[in-house]
Amino acid sequence: MSACMCSPLSQSSPLTIRKSAFGFPSKSNLLTARSAVGEFVAEPKVTSVAEPLLLHAVRGEKVERPPVWLMRQAGRYMKSYKKICEKYPSFRERSENVDLIVEISLQPWKVFKPDGVILFSDILTPLSGMNIPFDIVKGKGPVIYSPLRTAVDVDQVTEFVPEVAVPYVGEALTILRAEVKSDAAVLGFVGAPFTLASYVIEGGSSKHFTKIKSLAFSQPKVLHALLQKFTNSMAKYIQYQADNGAQAVQIFDSWATELSPVDFEEFSLPYLKQIVDSVKESHPDLPLILYASGSGGLLERVPLTGVDVVSLDWTVDMAEGRRRLGYDVAVQGNVDPGVLFGSKEFITKRIHDTVRKAGSYKHILNLGHGIVVGTPEENVAHFFEVAKGIRY
Ligand code: CP3
Repeated sequence: MSACMCSPLSQSSPLTIRKSAFGFPSKSNLLTARSAVGEFVAEPKVTSVAEPLLLHAVRGEKVERPPVWLMRQAGRYMKSYKKICEKYPSFRERSENVDLIVEISLQPWKVFKPDGVILFSDILTPLSGMNIPFDIVKGKGPVIYSPLRTAVDVDQVTEFVPEVAVPYVGEALTILRAEVKSDAAVLGFVGAPFTLASYVIEGGSSKHFTKIKSLAFSQPKVLHALLQKFTNSMAKYIQYQADNGAQAVQIFDSWATELSPVDFEEFSLPYLKQIVDSVKESHPDLPLILYASGSGGLLERVPLTGVDVVSLDWTVDMAEGRRRLGYDVAVQGNVDPGVLFGSKEFITKRIHDTVRKAGSYKHILNLGHGIVVGTPEENVAHFFEVAKGIRY
């Protein structure tokens, strides 16, 4: 599908809220919205199957508004989550018990009715199933007890068999699908090979990534062997999540952007592409979303992975991001999570600005990274209310 930029971005046009008799924007309104954002695309198809809005949007079908969900929408900014944490202080317990996973995943769904319900879990959850013991410690974050540094360490990493290692993930996804029906898309997620490798080599979160870079730039073969293991495992994990109810899966490559472009091309991009190719072979219709925070310097390279959706962080202007990514790929994002600390008027303004710049085609409204601890819940409620009231 091809598209072109037809007119420069209008600075001040508010979103059109008028609807046709059928709830969809009339053709003239659609055109108004499109020319206002300076974007145009091939005629969208319309389908009648009851499917979540998010899936229609990703496929480039006609939708009346952008679907909306928020990264880290389940978590510590919610009082209900903090209550569960008091009763179950261990993160691993909260994320490895089917009932707790379902309950926590549904907390934001019950209050805000987002268009995507993401599984409550962590990118590190599969590690214990690959013989890499870890924990997530309050106040400290992820801890890998025996960081991997050598070829022998990498040899000890075992094959990941999701149905044996993390059966609670599949069970929870299946229950979530039954709970949210077609009112929202159930979203799974995995960590990208480079980001997972950074945790297991550094031993936890890192500032300068010196240990993984030391390996990359002195013994690249050892790092490549580990990246290949994670690639095979995460492809299987995505397939498992889809088979058990996930309707789209997001890949988090949170730290790939610590790499210079030439190193991204060696240590991240080929592995992401391998994952996408392998999943597309078995699940051609499963949308894959890629998030790499701070990816402004890499944007033109990101669609080369073959993902369906690129999740932008807020340091990239949405209109410029769209232009640089090309119009075949859908875009997600990208309101600064800090905006949720602003006034309600400011939040409204930023949502409209982002939606206008993204245009009415293939956009999922989201933040540019996860919700920050301390975000007022009422501002999150306001975000969803405004977002769901938008009409192209
Ligand atoms: O979006 C959602 O609501 C789903 C939940 C989710 C969690 N982690 C739960 C969680 C998701 C999608 C993740 C992904 C994740 N985990 C990423 C990629 C996203 C990103 O932010 O870039 C990364 C890098 C991790 C690793 C990790 N896990 C970190 C850095 C932390 C924070 C440590 C801390 O204490 O601040 C975690 C722990 C974690 N995972 C929390 C949550 C809600 C916070 C701890 C808690 O709730 O007790």
